[in-house]
Amino acid sequence: MKKAILFTLIIMMVLPFAGLFAEGQKDKGSDSIVIGANIYNFQDNFMNGVMKPVLESYAAELGAEIQIVDSEGQQAILNNQVDIFITKGVDVLAINLVDPASAQSVIDKAKKADIPLVLFNKEGTKEAMASYDKVWYVGTDSAESGIIQGQMMVADWKANPKMDKNGDGVVQYVMLKGEPGHPDAEARTRESVKAFTDAGIKVKQLALEADPNWSTQHGNDKMAAWLTSSFGKDIELVICNNDGMGFGAITAMKAAGVRLPIYSVDALDQALTHIAEGELDGTVLNDGANQAKATIDLAVNVAKGKAPTEGTNWTLTTDGSKAVRVAYVGVTPKNYQEFR
Ligand code: BGC
Ligand code: CA
Repeated sequence: MKKAILFTLIIMMVLPFAGLFAEGQKDKGSDSIVIGANIYNFQDNFMNGVMKPVLESYAAELGAEIQIVDSEGQQAILNNQVDIFITKGVDVLAINLVDPASAQSVIDKAKKADIPLVLFNKEGTKEAMASYDKVWYVGTDSAESGIIQGQMMVADWKANPKMDKNGDGVVQYVMLKGEPGHPDAEARTRESVKAFTDAGIKVKQLALEADPNWSTQHGNDKMAAWLTSSFGKDIELVICNNDGMGFGAITAMKAAGVRLPIYSVDALDQALTHIAEGELDGTVLNDGANQAKATIDLAVNVAKGKAPTEGTNWTLTTDGSKAVRVAYVGVTPKNYQEFR
């Protein structure tokens, strides 16, 4: 009896390590690579709806294993998850920071463990990127989305004099910004409005609201409040830094029976449907599928000790940001069919 218990105990202690021994024996083909990854918040329309499925399917296509955890919008949770991945001995980390300002601490953890790191969607500073030779970034040129969105809005404003409801030559706008400090949110906020002033058109910001989770609920709540506020009747333009918040704003407008010009960024499927139904005037394709593919390509390469872009079509920036930047594309009622 006692012997049987002892035997069971020994088996229970040894069993968890059996897999590890087997792993160690394999050579480093893609099929033995484990990618430790996260999404900053599974509630995010774009990250969860576009990037996550492609991260999973493309890793599988390359024969790598990816483990994706939900950081629930909390940097402290992500820090723990990174520690656990490091303890587990993953081959590479693919990390979507919760707080972009925490890039340095995540890079320090990877560096200490000598594990290569690919950051995606939320970029660290060049200083942080320079602090470790095995960290890279995959995302976009943040400013480009704001410039494209801005040019779309300027073109429509010029073509439709009625958009200037009070005829004062000034664009009275409201802005749904997204996450403060997020390079995409900051650049979009700046560049979309700059497109008007560059074109010699005056602007007046009636309201701006930020939301770290870029959420539909936030878009709905803020738009509903703005419409019933003292300046509600003066709004001539609704600028949304992502589709998710735009969807909420559209719902709020429909509930109030108003239809104001509204533009967003991402080009999610639902945004294309809103364009088709005449409820959204434009969005900008944020090519999450290709950003996910680039993230996996880089991760698998560096896990094998290869150069990050070897054998791929991606190019790395040479300005110290060590980034692959996937291009944005403007989506309007004229061309949206091409993106469906
Ligand atoms: C997207 C947003 C998303 C954010 C998450 C941005 O690039 O446009 O929709 O919420 O990334 O970090
Ligand atoms: Ca006006």
